[in-house]
Amino acid sequence: MQVHSTSPMVVVANRLPFCLGTDPDTGKLIRKQCAGGLVTAVAPVVVETQGLWVGWSGLHTEDENVEIPEADPNDQSPTAGLKSSQVLPVTMPKKVFSDYYNGCCNATFWPLFHSMPDRATFQADKWEAYREVNREFARLTVEAVKRLRESHPDSVPLVWLHDYHMMLAANTIREKCDELNMPIKMAFFLHIPFPSWDIMRLFPWDDELLQGVLGCDSIGFHIDDYCLNFIDCCQRRLGCRVDRQQMLVEHNSRTISINPLPISIPYERFVQLAEKAPKVVKNNPQEQLLLGVDRLDYTKGLVHRIRAFETLLEKHPELKEKVTFLQVAVPSRTDVKEYQELKEELDQLIGKINGQFSTPNWSPIRYIYGCVSQDQLAAFYRDSSVAVVTPLRDGMNLVAKEFVACQTGEPGVLILSPFAGAGISMHEALHVNPYETNEFSDTIYRALTMPKDEREMRMKQLRRRERDHDVNFWLRNFLKTVDCLSDVDKSQVSG
Ligand code: ADP
Ligand code: G6P
Repeated sequence: MQVHSTSPMVVVANRLPFCLGTDPDTGKLIRKQCAGGLVTAVAPVVVETQGLWVGWSGLHTEDENVEIPEADPNDQSPTAGLKSSQVLPVTMPKKVFSDYYNGCCNATFWPLFHSMPDRATFQADKWEAYREVNREFARLTVEAVKRLRESHPDSVPLVWLHDYHMMLAANTIREKCDELNMPIKMAFFLHIPFPSWDIMRLFPWDDELLQGVLGCDSIGFHIDDYCLNFIDCCQRRLGCRVDRQQMLVEHNSRTISINPLPISIPYERFVQLAEKAPKVVKNNPQEQLLLGVDRLDYTKGLVHRIRAFETLLEKHPELKEKVTFLQVAVPSRTDVKEYQELKEELDQLIGKINGQFSTPNWSPIRYIYGCVSQDQLAAFYRDSSVAVVTPLRDGMNLVAKEFVACQTGEPGVLILSPFAGAGISMHEALHVNPYETNEFSDTIYRALTMPKDEREMRMKQLRRRERDHDVNFWLRNFLKTVDCLSDVDKSQVSG
C-alpha cells in the first residue's frame, strides 16, 4: 500500500535514484536503474507529493551534456514516475568529487562508522572536499525548496537528508532558508551504524560533524544502540543536555528527536518475485545450496565465511558433492585500495579451496562477481537451503530480510551475525559470531541438517515479522517523527 506525506518532500542523497549512462546504440544519455531499499521506499512518495530529488548523476562538470532524460516508456521501476523536472543533479569537478566520495566517505566514514578505525584514513584535504560537496548539495537543496514553495505556496516542505555522505548539509540549508523566509522541516537518516564515542572521537573534526547532523529536527538510526551512541557523543563532545529515555538532544536552543527506525524491504514485491522466478539448476536433486549475497565489502565478513565453509568441508568429508556454496558479490567502490585488495584475497582463497576439494563433477564454491537480476536473486533466495548473512558489522542488512521474504517453497535456514542491525530482531535465525571459525562451521552443519518442523517454525515467525514490518511501515514511522503522516496512514502505525 502506498504511503502518503502531508508535505512535499526533497530527498537529498549522494546518488540519484538512477544513474546516467550512454546508450551504446544511439549515444544518448539514458537512465540506468540502481534500485536499492532507499529508492524503492522513497521514490513513490517523492512522485506522489510531486517532490524533488537532489543527488549525483554519475557525471561530472567535465562531462558534456548533463541534462536528465525522461524515463523510458517501458520503465517499470519505482523511479519511472519521476519526471526529469523532479530531479536536481549535483555535478562537481571530478577531483573534488573523488576526494569527497572515495577519500572521505569511503575511506574515512565507512570504516570508522563500522568500528574498523585501523582501516580509516584522516586527511584534512579530503575533509575539506567533503565540506565543499556538502555546500553544493545544500545550495541545490535550497533551490529545490524554492521550487516547491512556488508549486505548493502554503506548504512547509520536508527536506530529508540521507546517509554519511550528507552530514554537513543541514545547517547551510537552514541558514539559507531562514534568510529567504522559507520555513522547512528537516530530517536525517543514517543507513549505516553509528559508532560509540570511543570510536567517534578518533575523527579529528568530530564536533563539526555532530553539529552538522544536529541541524536537523529529527534524526533516525536503525536501532536503539546507534541512537544511544549518538546521544552519548552529543553529550560528551558538545556538552549537550540529553534525555536518553525520550531520546532527545538539546542544541543551540532547539530540541532534536532521535528515533530508532529499522529499515526494511518491500516484502510483497519479493514474495511475488519468488513465486514467478525460474528454478535454480542444481548438480543433482539432493544438492543443498548455501547462499551469500553481498556487495564486495570488507564489512561483510566474506573471508571469515569462506574459511568457515572450508573448515566444514574438512570436518565433514561426507558433504562432498552434496553441498555447494554460492557466493554472489557485487563489485563496489573499485577505486578504493581496500576493496581492490579484498577482491584479490577472495579470488585466491576461493581458488585454493576449489583446487583442494573439487571433484570432476563438483566444485564446492560457485562464485559470481557481478550484479544479478532481481528474478535471479529471488530464485537463489527461494531455492537455497541456507543463507549465510554474517557481516563483521552492518547497519541493518537487507539481504537477510529479502531471503526470508523469498522463502515461499521448502523452508530454509537463516544464519545471521549478531553484528548486523537485523540480528536484533530476527530472533529465529541461527546467530553466530563470524570471528569464531569452528563454531561457525558447526552452525552451518546444524543448519544443513535441521529437521523440517524446526525449519518451518523458525521461518514462519521470521516471515510474519518481516511482512508486518515492511518498508512502508518504516516510512510511516519516519513521517510520524516529523509530523507529516497523512490521516490515511495514521491507522497503520503502532503506538
Ligand atoms: P549494503 O547496503 O551494505 O549494500 P544491504 O544488505 O542492506 O547491504 O543491501 C544490499 C542490497 O543490494 C540488497 O537489496 C541486495 O538485494 C542487493 N544486492 C546485493 N548483492 C547483489 C547482487 N550481486 N546482485 C544484485 N543485487 C544485489
Ligand atoms: C550502503 C550505503 C549507501 C550506498 C550503498 C552503495 O548501502 O549505506 O549509501 O549508496 O552502500 O554504495 P555506493 O558507494 O556504491 O553508493
